[in-house]
Amino acid sequence: MIEIQTDKLSFFLHAGNVTYAMEVNAQGDLTHLYWGPRLAAHDLSHLGRVRGRAFSPNPHGCDDQYTLDSLPQEYPVYGTSDFRSPAVEVHQPRDGSRIVELKYAGHRVLPGKPKLEGLPATLAPEAGDAESLAITLRDAKTGFEVELLYTVFAAHPVITRSARLVNGGSDPLQLRRALSCSVDFIPEYARYSFLHLSGAWTQERNLFTAPLRPGMQSVESRRGASSHQHNPFVALTELGTSEEHGRVYGMNLVYSGNFLGAAEVDIDGQPRLQIGINPFDFGWLLNPGEAFQTPEAVLVFSAEGLGGMSRALHRFYRRHLLSARWVDRPRPIVINNWEATYFNFTTDKLCAIAEQAAKVGVEMLVVDDGWFGHRTDDKSSLGDWTPDLSRLPGGLEELGRRVTAQGLKLGLWFEPEMISPDSDLFRQHPDWRLHVPGRPGTLGRAQHVLDFSRPEVREEIFRQMAAILRSAPITFVKWDMNRHMTEIGSASLPPERQMETAHRYMLGVYDFLERFTREFPEILIEGCSGGGGRFDPAMLYYTPQIWTSDNSDAISRLKIQYGTSLLYPFSTLSAHVSHVPNSAVGRVTPFTTRGHVALTGAFGYELDLTECTPEELDEIRLQVAAYKTHAQLLLEGDLYRLRSPFDSNESAWMVVSPDRREALVTYVLVLSDCNTANRNLPLRGLDPARRYRLSGTERIYSGESLLYGGVELPIPDRDFRSHQWHLVAVE
Ligand code: GLA
Repeated sequence: MIEIQTDKLSFFLHAGNVTYAMEVNAQGDLTHLYWGPRLAAHDLSHLGRVRGRAFSPNPHGCDDQYTLDSLPQEYPVYGTSDFRSPAVEVHQPRDGSRIVELKYAGHRVLPGKPKLEGLPATLAPEAGDAESLAITLRDAKTGFEVELLYTVFAAHPVITRSARLVNGGSDPLQLRRALSCSVDFIPEYARYSFLHLSGAWTQERNLFTAPLRPGMQSVESRRGASSHQHNPFVALTELGTSEEHGRVYGMNLVYSGNFLGAAEVDIDGQPRLQIGINPFDFGWLLNPGEAFQTPEAVLVFSAEGLGGMSRALHRFYRRHLLSARWVDRPRPIVINNWEATYFNFTTDKLCAIAEQAAKVGVEMLVVDDGWFGHRTDDKSSLGDWTPDLSRLPGGLEELGRRVTAQGLKLGLWFEPEMISPDSDLFRQHPDWRLHVPGRPGTLGRAQHVLDFSRPEVREEIFRQMAAILRSAPITFVKWDMNRHMTEIGSASLPPERQMETAHRYMLGVYDFLERFTREFPEILIEGCSGGGGRFDPAMLYYTPQIWTSDNSDAISRLKIQYGTSLLYPFSTLSAHVSHVPNSAVGRVTPFTTRGHVALTGAFGYELDLTECTPEELDEIRLQVAAYKTHAQLLLEGDLYRLRSPFDSNESAWMVVSPDRREALVTYVLVLSDCNTANRNLPLRGLDPARRYRLSGTERIYSGESLLYGGVELPIPDRDFRSHQWHLVAVE
């Protein structure tokens, strides 16, 4: 997988059908040569060539044809002839200099993949899964070192990158920027577009593409969470890229805090793509001997369009990111009481819902916000994780007993990272929130953010949560996070380290989740942040499913789930059938359509089952049975997006089993029309040589007729109509 040519010191990383190549040039600079379809290792030096340009200076000792300004590099710095965005900035308090010159100092090849200290990252547990290359770059004057870690996965077109920054000198250094990766592309910018996923609360992860142009195009978060607004992902796509065709170069950051993803086009028309912790409001003091570990960036290449990239990432995340304990296990079908009752519930009400749930085959009751402290609305009690006995008279013990007696499991909502001013915890420890002394602090949803960078804060919240989880038969936790950070400061850090707070906070959250998953391995955690405000690979490492959006409307979900599926496997998308008119958008959609759209890998309900009509209850029984039938296919299958809700009045997708013997196809029409022509939906991913039976019928189709002809679409007769086809190979 890793091939090194020692004559010129060239490194070839072969990942699946992809090659990534670099070389140490005569000046000792680590040059980027290539990233794309697999190549045999041979001399690619011509790809890393450089020539002098007017106003592109020449580093000391080099001829006038050598400049870093247009040299494709692996981890560029500023101040020694490259005017583009650097990967790292190192302030040297002793003399105020910001100059470092990173020259090759050595490399080592490691079997497998080392763990990244303090951070979630992809794993390579099996021997032979992966191989890693660590390349050290050193600044001779300060002793500052960068160890670039590249891991190559044998079976995936994926390379992961991160950097470990070490102060190997004798004076303190101040990091002002420490990105995870930077790639300089050889081709001209005009051939590429910049792709990202952006949105807002209840409108997460819309797809955006814009042609690359000279200058910067970027997405970022300054909110202390990866955010609803932007996902930690950027890609370059070849012009004309579709679901099936075109080259796509993606970067996804395994991080849940402030990030920057950027494409910059330079004087040569050469795009530089970067991702990492957002340098905005970031700083890190590195004392002699100390090291800073950046989060990991996942680099994926597809020559088969966006669909190819998605399937590659999905397979990769299933095998190398999501917890092995959960990845192949069908997730419980839940009834969550949030949209059913909001804060208005009691033990009896929950048990009435549970009783009905048991009758229709639902497997778990998730008790959402409001079970603790004296929380009757969103204004109090975060931080006081003890049951509210006025609404749960026998506490969680009695609730647990009654719910399990119905044959259901129990799940519970927490918002561990938050504190309400109206809470005992806040009254005892007002300085345990993120804040700046002498300033009152901005509230969001009437709450402050707890300072999770502090071990004593984490300890107290862990103690409270552990006591609750041990007091009742709870097997599922919904982990929420409902505001973004302001006045980012920590009472436990000295002034010169205040800019470390946001990242230390994330390290604290990861530390907490490490401990939590170790001590409660059998509890499945569902991530959430006002819906999908922290839907990123780092949270998925701990929470194998995430509540995709607070917008549960089936039609809104078409875009939200389509966008989310660009990167994240269906098994991670939590989706529920909710009541109508939908509480977010007021839309009335058919029950069947809500079921079809919610049938991802983590299925459930978000409505008052005691108020459903007998017909609806019958339909729920059918949906529950369908989920149970398709659960394994949805967890393991390959996703093919067939129609995009972003550019049409319909949406369609299908999941195909790895052996291509089974597929589930879903089609949703948004607005109806009349006097329409007959239309077919060509399928993808099937085996053309097989024949498939349409479940529930005797109808047999040939694989090739489904692929090249398609299934017949229903005649539109009303808005929001959906249809599902289940196909099973007959031979
Ligand atoms: C967030 C979540 C919702 C619900 C509420 C409870 O908005 O996304 O699903 O849990 O909090 O306050």
